[in-house]
Amino acid sequence: MSETRKVTIFGSGLVGCQWAMLFAAAGFQVALHDAKEGQAARALQQIDSQLRDLSAKGHLRGCLSAEQQQQLISAPGSLDEALDGAFLVQECVFEDVQVKRDVFRLLDAKAPAEAFLCSSTSCIMPSEFTSELPGRARCLVAHPVNPPYFLSLVELVPSPFTDPAAVQTVKETLVKLGQEPIVINYEIDGFAVNRLQYAIINEAWRLVTSGAMSAEDVDKVMTCGLAPRYCFLGPLAVMQTNASGIRDYCQRFGSGVARVSATFGPTPTYQGEEVDRVAAQMNTLMPPESLADVCARRNQFLAALARMKRDFSQSRGSQDNI
Ligand SMILES: NC(=O)c1ccc[n+]([C@@H]2O[C@H](COP(=O)([O-])OP(=O)(O)OC[C@H]3O[C@@H](n4cnc5c(N)ncnc54)[C@H](O)[C@@H]3O)[C@@H](O)[C@H]2O)c1
Repeated sequence: MSETRKVTIFGSGLVGCQWAMLFAAAGFQVALHDAKEGQAARALQQIDSQLRDLSAKGHLRGCLSAEQQQQLISAPGSLDEALDGAFLVQECVFEDVQVKRDVFRLLDAKAPAEAFLCSSTSCIMPSEFTSELPGRARCLVAHPVNPPYFLSLVELVPSPFTDPAAVQTVKETLVKLGQEPIVINYEIDGFAVNRLQYAIINEAWRLVTSGAMSAEDVDKVMTCGLAPRYCFLGPLAVMQTNASGIRDYCQRFGSGVARVSATFGPTPTYQGEEVDRVAAQMNTLMPPESLADVCARRNQFLAALARMKRDFSQSRGSQDNI
């Protein structure tokens, strides 16, 4: 692993730590910075213990040992030191447009002129916090999916002012990490992940709150039916393979899709007594005190799945993204 370039992770909470681990796994030097006193040092300790744990379970990414990866990550005492020599800054601060504006103003003023400035924001358009900046051409969103260490997708969202060359270089860098960057050509609310996710959540919610099904059974529709197939073939590839191609699918099933879709009903508001009813079912199935354990088992499952997808992809060549 010969990568010696440096990245700065600005904000060292949940997502910042995961980005740090992803970059270190690919051999990048990583400098952590956080506004909260002592947070970056605490993040270093958490990363150390996570890397050891991943290594013990055989889930460590990259070719370097946990110790070598840990040595690539530091928490310099000052922001200037953290930014010095960085070719990319990944912002991971609170999801608040004013905080992002302040942080990007600071980064644009202090980061090396040639550094790319990426935001992890889940749903704030990049133009909302970069359009006033002299360096707005080097700013874009690079939104990972939780937990980024096990889920490879990163949504790249340029603002209308972002230099296409910046998008291309960030994309190539993420590929080096083993991530799967996708590019959204123009700003769209919710980007792609949340637009698709919300379409699913909306209908799951309607099925449960209308009394058509239990929460347990709706979730089974995904975990035992749709989701395993979607791990390997996306929805459009499923259309392509469930018939003799998309044209045949549309001819045979298009009117049925349109008919059912017309019955979906209004978008839920996620307020009122419906929340109590769904929460009661979910809290019985998955008590709040069990959630940390469920997430740990989820991560183990995702690590195994990531390995299986890599093997499957390699066995099929590079014509697909699975
Ligand atoms: N948590 C997720 O599932 C997830 C997934 C994808 C993207 N994101 C996005 O990533 C970003 C970070 O989310 P998170 O879950 O890691 O949050 P978090 O609360 O765990 O961490 C945020 C960190 O930013 C620091 N911070 C806040 N303001 C700062 C400032 N002005 N300068 C420097 N540091 C500052 C905080 O001290 C904290 O350590 C958000 O934009 C979020 O939407 C989160």
